[in-house]
Amino acid sequence: MKVAVITGAANGIGLALSQAHLQRDIMAVMVDKDSAKLNKEAEQLKSNFPGKILAISCDVTNKDEVSKLAQQIEKQLGRIDWIYNNAGIIGQLAPVWDLNSEYAQQVMNVNVYGMLHIIQAFTPFLFKQSSRSHIINMASLYALCTGSQTAPYSMSKHAVLALSESLYFDLTRLNKPVDVSVVFPSFTDTGLLSNNPEGNSSFHEALQSLLSHSRPAVDSAEHIMHEVEQKKFYIFPDKEVKGYCEERIKALLLQDNPHINNIEKLMSALIKRQEARAL
Ligand SMILES: NC(=O)c1ccc[n+]([C@@H]2O[C@H](COP(=O)([O-])OP(=O)(O)OC[C@H]3O[C@@H](n4cnc5c(N)ncnc54)[C@H](O)[C@@H]3O)[C@@H](O)[C@H]2O)c1
Repeated sequence: MKVAVITGAANGIGLALSQAHLQRDIMAVMVDKDSAKLNKEAEQLKSNFPGKILAISCDVTNKDEVSKLAQQIEKQLGRIDWIYNNAGIIGQLAPVWDLNSEYAQQVMNVNVYGMLHIIQAFTPFLFKQSSRSHIINMASLYALCTGSQTAPYSMSKHAVLALSESLYFDLTRLNKPVDVSVVFPSFTDTGLLSNNPEGNSSFHEALQSLLSHSRPAVDSAEHIMHEVEQKKFYIFPDKEVKGYCEERIKALLLQDNPHINNIEKLMSALIKRQEARAL
């Protein structure tokens, strides 16, 4: 049976990706640092997919835990076909001058260095396998454009894009049997905002309302899987993200000021509406 390893699998897009793989008769190794939620979700899935789930608690920011994770999977399953580097956090939502640098570093630790730990721990095994495997890195629309009050998250997702492209060049030049993709979801209805520090600003509430009216995670997961099957490097689950990217590049090449994209406009309108309600 083919094997997919999915980080951040206890919730949101990672949980939906786990289900989507199980439905296609692929074994899901569900990895998350929230062991209580992970075990609860894995137990529920096990009734429909007995013998096809391995749930492993692991914090991707901890290099030793990630290294043990890779050893356990190699020993127990002996094959890996897909690795979804999906675990991520949004971090503090505040103007740059108000950011707590420790919170900002934590976003980089999870979203970027966590991904790097996984790639470094698993590639020795992937390179030994006789069949090709595929690493899928979860970026965001914030890898291709930016907005106010999202600097740490945008910084981390821009780094995920750079890491993914560099990995692609390394694998290609050194002729390694591993494909790579990077995914740019737009807003998706998940728990992404539930754990961020200082989550009671009007900006946070506006973003939460945007997320809760967005596409369900199962839709994104289906789209991602389809594109992964086609071996697409750049994956856009939501078409509008290409528009944000085009407008940004246009402004950059014209040496204009950064383009005020529709998210910025929408967020400003939502915040104004909330502030008016609060009066
Ligand atoms: N929801 C969106 O609108 C959206 C949009 C673009 C990109 N994304 C990206 O999709 C990915 C999944 O996010 P989601 O929206 O499903 O969020 P989510 O909060 O619902 O799920 C994220 C999961 O990652 C786990 N996690 C967090 N830190 C971890 C760590 N250090 N080690 C292991 N697991 C950890 C959490 O426990 C959680 O179960 C993230 O990389 C996120 O940046 C989400």
